Amino acid sequence: MRAELIDGKAIAADVRADVARDVAALRERGVVAGLVVVLVGDDVASATYVGAKEKASREAGMSGGTVRLPAATTQAELLRLVEELNGDAAVHGILVQMPLPAHIDPDTVIRHIRPDKDVDGFHPENVGKLLIGHTDGFVSCTPAGVIELLVRSGVETRGAEAVVVGRSNIVGKPMAALLLQARPGGDATVTVCHSRTRDLHMHTRRADILIVAAGRAEMITGDMIKPGAVVIDVGMNSVPDPTRAKGSRLCGDVHFASAVEVASRITPVPGGVGPMTIAMLLRNTVRAAERTVS
Ligand code: GUN
Repeated sequence: MRAELIDGKAIAADVRADVARDVAALRERGVVAGLVVVLVGDDVASATYVGAKEKASREAGMSGGTVRLPAATTQAELLRLVEELNGDAAVHGILVQMPLPAHIDPDTVIRHIRPDKDVDGFHPENVGKLLIGHTDGFVSCTPAGVIELLVRSGVETRGAEAVVVGRSNIVGKPMAALLLQARPGGDATVTVCHSRTRDLHMHTRRADILIVAAGRAEMITGDMIKPGAVVIDVGMNSVPDPTRAKGSRLCGDVHFASAVEVASRITPVPGGVGPMTIAMLLRNTVRAAERTVS
């Protein structure tokens, strides 16, 4: 079997077109959806991600932009900025890019963001709403994007054996919660594996839907995948490659060359889950703005 590719770029473009329509409709009602991204320090990867978020929000017709702060910014200064943004009616979504410099506690910052502006879905109130199944919160963008990929690709999650590899707060845990919801894109039987899981392959080989977000380059090989499974690779790793001019290449947490021979459908890296994260951020932001008027 050679797997069909799930085209995250194309599906993200569809979501972004829907969002742009919603932003335009809201503008007719006198509200301009606004997203502010906060970047502290000069981490190169973070700067790239933030640039992409800013560009995408502008293209969707949103206002806002990026606040860039030096690495020496104190936690108190950052919290003051968050409070200012919390009180600014033109700002519907606030995103503080992670990771933060080591002297700033990310949980304290996340707890300071108003839950109804927390378009990252990281605030404990939004995480709690997700677990309970309330739909008036915000869901972390990457796992929400994975569900959107599955639904828009016609993958049946109901009754499926879904195995998530990775238990981070940003991806693994909310991913499992979403797959458990009693609604389309959910209703799966969910197993969560992590770095302490014994006999990982015994779990992954049972998966009809295998979602890998472990942060380890190419750790899932074709022999760990059930023939015909749908494989979603959330990983984004840079590995040395002397054959490339840059000396490195991007790869996922799945060993693509062997997995593509076993799976029925698979997301590529790049061009799979990555573009969906930004699309879902835009969707959360327009929802945040809509909730201020309805
Ligand atoms: N760093 C990497 N991914 C993310 C994300 O989705 N949100 C934030 N705030 N920081 C990140």
